Amino acid sequence: MKILVTGCCGYIGSHTLVELLNNGYEVVGLDNFSNSKKDVLDKIEKITGKQIVFYECDMLDKDNLRKIFQENKIEMVIDFAAYKAVGESVEKPISYYINNVSSVLMLLDVMKSFGVKNLIFSSSATVYGMAEEVPLKETSFVGGTTNPYGTSKLFVEKILMDLYNSDNDWNICIFRYFNPIGAHSSGLIGENPNGVPANLMPYIVKVAKKELECLNIFGDDYDTVDGTGVRDYIHIMDLALAHILGVKKLCEVKSGLHIYNLGTGKGISVLELVNAFKKVNNVDIPYKIAPRRAGDIAECYASIRKAREELGFIPKRGIDDMCFDAYNYVLKENENEKN
Ligand code: WQD
Repeated sequence: MKILVTGCCGYIGSHTLVELLNNGYEVVGLDNFSNSKKDVLDKIEKITGKQIVFYECDMLDKDNLRKIFQENKIEMVIDFAAYKAVGESVEKPISYYINNVSSVLMLLDVMKSFGVKNLIFSSSATVYGMAEEVPLKETSFVGGTTNPYGTSKLFVEKILMDLYNSDNDWNICIFRYFNPIGAHSSGLIGENPNGVPANLMPYIVKVAKKELECLNIFGDDYDTVDGTGVRDYIHIMDLALAHILGVKKLCEVKSGLHIYNLGTGKGISVLELVNAFKKVNNVDIPYKIAPRRAGDIAECYASIRKAREELGFIPKRGIDDMCFDAYNYVLKENENEKN
């Protein structure tokens, strides 16, 4: 089974690539390095001892996309390539819709012309919008998204549903990610965005490294366990494992459109995450309570019953592992840069 992985050098793409190679799949990778670095491929080779066929390619470049399918007998695509910063999407809606929606349309059109109809699409819990109920089920209301990033994921989900309804030979798995954090245990790959991060864990890591002075906790007056926001954090390696289960599912069912939440089914508050990080890594994380962030909801966590029952998905790593691995990566990244 030869699988094309788009966005293979990104945070989720690179960790999934490790799992695919470790499970013996033949992979062709594609990335345009808009939000990733080429040296990730060397690190993946260090971890797995394997190289992949790689194309530096923008998915909007249909001719280059076609070339990949002409030169490789692709049988399935896992599509990670997308911009994913909520705040940035509000400032740059056009570039988000072009990159996150038009590029998928190019991909689907090329897949169709080569008769490739097996697809795993990376979606997001943001499609649930200002969720009314928790835990969120795959049948929960979707829509009411509050930013172009979330709306772009919702648009593509609808496109995939229309595509499947037009041709039931398509075999599609949509994964709705909750809050992926952590890193591969080797410390060779992980997440450490440049600049001031929007997301909680990368911000905590920079405070731990004293690159940022203090964490602002956006609100402690929510109706939650301790007043701070509650989210479903899932270890990136558990998320990567879920993609192996998704590949196996598509190989088994041959056609259909399947949607799964990927989280742990457990909500963790900001303060609980901060305290776990401090304990596990024996560091201080100075913080202060700041006003609520626009668009935030009090609680968002998944029901993963469907993924457990239909894919056999059982997340293994807990919040301590996520905190340890997230920090370990950044410490190792510094060491590697010095050498
Ligand atoms: C988590 C909690 C904040 C930063 C977003 C996207 C989602 C997914 C993950 C792509 C909230 C609080 C945060 C900070 C804080 N990305 N917080 N201080 O908003 O749940 O989800 O990222 O798929 O699509 O929407 O994640 O990490 O930004 O926030 O107090 O400096 O941490 O209020 O309660 P979020 P987050």
